[in-house]
Amino acid sequence: MLKDKIEVNIALKEREKICTILHKLLASTYALYLKTQNYHWNVIGPQFQTFHLLFQGQYEELAEAIDEMAERIRALGYFPEGSFETFSKLSLIKGEFGHPGAMEMIQTLLKDHEALIQYMREHLPFVEEQEDGATADFLNKRLAIHEKASWILRSTSN
Ligand SMILES: [Fe+2]
Repeated sequence: MLKDKIEVNIALKEREKICTILHKLLASTYALYLKTQNYHWNVIGPQFQTFHLLFQGQYEELAEAIDEMAERIRALGYFPEGSFETFSKLSLIKGEFGHPGAMEMIQTLLKDHEALIQYMREHLPFVEEQEDGATADFLNKRLAIHEKASWILRSTSN
Protein backbone atom coordinates (compact mmCIF):
# COMPACT_ATOMS: atom_id res chain seq x y z
CA MET A 1 0.00 0.00 0.00
CA LEU A 2 1.16 3.55 -0.75
CA LYS A 3 1.39 5.89 2.19
CA ASP A 4 1.21 9.57 3.16
CA LYS A 5 3.72 11.16 5.47
CA ILE A 6 1.72 11.91 8.60
CA GLU A 7 2.38 12.13 12.33
CA VAL A 8 -0.32 10.70 14.59
CA ASN A 9 1.86 9.12 17.27
CA ILE A 10 1.43 5.57 16.03
CA ALA A 11 4.76 4.17 14.82
CA LEU A 12 4.97 3.54 11.09
CA LYS A 13 5.24 -0.24 11.34
CA GLU A 14 2.22 -0.49 13.65
CA ARG A 15 0.22 1.97 11.56
CA GLU A 16 0.95 -0.10 8.46
CA LYS A 17 -0.19 -3.25 10.24
CA ILE A 18 -3.46 -1.59 11.31
CA CYS A 19 -4.05 -0.51 7.70
CA THR A 20 -3.30 -4.04 6.47
CA ILE A 21 -5.87 -5.39 8.94
CA LEU A 22 -8.40 -2.79 7.75
CA HIS A 23 -7.62 -3.46 4.09
CA LYS A 24 -8.44 -7.16 4.44
CA LEU A 25 -11.59 -6.24 6.32
CA LEU A 26 -12.48 -3.77 3.55
CA ALA A 27 -12.05 -6.44 0.85
CA SER A 28 -14.07 -8.95 2.87
CA THR A 29 -16.85 -6.51 3.67
CA TYR A 30 -17.05 -5.55 0.00
CA ALA A 31 -17.35 -9.22 -0.95
CA LEU A 32 -20.12 -9.70 1.61
CA TYR A 33 -21.85 -6.57 0.31
CA LEU A 34 -21.79 -7.91 -3.25
CA LYS A 35 -22.97 -11.36 -2.18
CA THR A 36 -25.83 -9.91 -0.10
CA GLN A 37 -26.94 -7.71 -3.00
CA ASN A 38 -26.70 -10.69 -5.35
CA TYR A 39 -29.03 -12.59 -3.03
CA HIS A 40 -31.38 -9.58 -2.89
CA TRP A 41 -31.65 -9.81 -6.69
CA ASN A 42 -31.84 -13.58 -7.02
CA VAL A 43 -33.80 -14.95 -4.07
CA ILE A 44 -37.00 -16.77 -5.03
CA GLY A 45 -39.82 -18.52 -3.15
CA PRO A 46 -42.93 -17.81 -1.10
CA GLN A 47 -41.00 -15.55 1.29
CA PHE A 48 -39.46 -13.54 -1.52
CA GLN A 49 -40.51 -10.13 -0.20
CA THR A 50 -39.23 -10.80 3.33
CA PHE A 51 -35.79 -11.97 2.18
CA HIS A 52 -35.54 -9.40 -0.60
CA LEU A 53 -36.01 -6.60 1.96
CA LEU A 54 -33.88 -8.24 4.65
CA PHE A 55 -30.96 -8.51 2.21
CA GLN A 56 -31.50 -4.94 1.04
CA GLY A 57 -31.23 -3.56 4.58
CA GLN A 58 -28.03 -5.54 5.12
CA TYR A 59 -26.29 -4.60 1.88
CA GLU A 60 -27.13 -0.92 2.34
CA GLU A 61 -25.56 -0.99 5.80
CA LEU A 62 -22.47 -2.77 4.43
CA ALA A 63 -22.09 -0.14 1.69
CA GLU A 64 -21.85 2.64 4.28
CA ALA A 65 -19.38 0.63 6.35
CA ILE A 66 -17.14 0.06 3.33
CA ASP A 67 -16.83 3.78 2.76
CA GLU A 68 -16.08 4.49 6.40
CA MET A 69 -13.45 1.72 6.46
CA ALA A 70 -11.64 2.96 3.36
CA GLU A 71 -11.66 6.52 4.72
CA ARG A 72 -10.23 5.31 8.04
CA ILE A 73 -7.31 3.80 6.09
CA ARG A 74 -6.79 7.20 4.41
CA ALA A 75 -6.92 8.96 7.77
CA LEU A 76 -4.11 6.65 8.91
CA GLY A 77 -2.06 7.73 5.91
CA TYR A 78 -2.46 4.78 3.55
CA PHE A 79 -4.21 4.35 0.22
CA PRO A 80 -6.72 1.48 0.02
CA GLU A 81 -6.70 -0.36 -3.30
CA GLY A 82 -10.30 -0.51 -4.46
CA SER A 83 -10.19 -3.02 -7.28
CA PHE A 84 -11.92 -6.36 -7.76
CA GLU A 85 -8.52 -7.99 -8.35
CA THR A 86 -7.12 -6.80 -5.02
CA PHE A 87 -10.33 -7.45 -3.13
CA SER A 88 -10.70 -11.00 -4.42
CA LYS A 89 -7.10 -11.76 -3.42
CA LEU A 90 -7.53 -10.38 0.12
CA SER A 91 -11.13 -11.30 0.93
CA LEU A 92 -12.01 -13.86 3.60
CA ILE A 93 -15.43 -14.17 1.96
CA LYS A 94 -15.69 -16.41 -1.06
CA GLY A 95 -17.66 -15.33 -4.08
CA GLU A 96 -20.52 -17.45 -5.27
CA PHE A 97 -21.90 -18.83 -8.49
CA GLY A 98 -25.28 -20.41 -9.13
CA HIS A 99 -28.59 -19.81 -7.42
CA PRO A 100 -28.82 -21.30 -3.95
CA GLY A 101 -32.20 -21.67 -2.26
CA ALA A 102 -33.34 -19.01 0.21
CA MET A 103 -32.37 -21.04 3.31
CA GLU A 104 -28.95 -21.79 1.89
CA MET A 105 -28.49 -18.06 1.27
CA ILE A 106 -29.32 -17.36 4.91
CA GLN A 107 -26.85 -20.02 6.12
CA THR A 108 -24.09 -18.75 3.84
CA LEU A 109 -24.54 -15.14 4.96
CA LEU A 110 -24.58 -16.23 8.59
CA LYS A 111 -21.25 -18.03 8.16
CA ASP A 112 -19.80 -14.99 6.40
CA HIS A 113 -20.87 -12.56 9.12
CA GLU A 114 -19.40 -14.91 11.72
CA ALA A 115 -16.13 -15.08 9.77
CA LEU A 116 -15.89 -11.27 9.90
CA ILE A 117 -16.67 -11.28 13.63
CA GLN A 118 -13.89 -13.82 14.25
CA TYR A 119 -11.43 -11.82 12.15
CA MET A 120 -12.15 -8.56 14.00
CA ARG A 121 -11.95 -10.22 17.41
CA GLU A 122 -8.60 -11.71 16.47
CA HIS A 123 -7.13 -8.33 15.48
CA LEU A 124 -8.83 -5.93 17.89
CA PRO A 125 -6.28 -6.49 20.72
CA PHE A 126 -3.42 -5.34 18.45
CA VAL A 127 -5.31 -2.17 17.52
CA GLU A 128 -6.05 -1.48 21.18
CA GLU A 129 -2.40 -2.05 22.14
CA GLN A 130 -1.41 0.76 19.74
CA GLU A 131 -3.95 3.01 21.47
CA ASP A 132 -5.66 3.64 18.15
CA GLY A 133 -8.97 4.38 19.80
CA ALA A 134 -10.73 5.57 16.64
CA THR A 135 -10.04 2.30 14.79
CA ALA A 136 -10.85 0.25 17.90
CA ASP A 137 -14.17 2.11 18.30
CA PHE A 138 -14.94 1.48 14.64
CA LEU A 139 -14.16 -2.24 14.96
CA ASN A 140 -16.27 -2.52 18.10
CA LYS A 141 -19.16 -0.84 16.30
CA ARG A 142 -18.73 -3.24 13.36
CA LEU A 143 -18.68 -6.21 15.75
CA ALA A 144 -22.02 -5.20 17.27
CA ILE A 145 -23.58 -4.73 13.81
CA HIS A 146 -22.32 -8.09 12.50
CA GLU A 147 -23.43 -9.83 15.70
CA LYS A 148 -26.91 -8.35 15.28
CA ALA A 149 -27.02 -9.36 11.60
CA SER A 150 -25.93 -12.88 12.60
CA TRP A 151 -28.67 -13.09 15.23
CA ILE A 152 -31.30 -12.04 12.67
CA LEU A 153 -30.04 -14.54 10.07
CA ARG A 154 -29.81 -17.33 12.67
CA SER A 155 -33.35 -16.63 13.88
CA THR A 156 -34.63 -16.57 10.31
CA SER A 157 -33.25 -20.03 9.59
CA ASN A 158 -34.71 -21.76 12.67
FE1 LIG B 1 -33.27 -3.55 -5.17
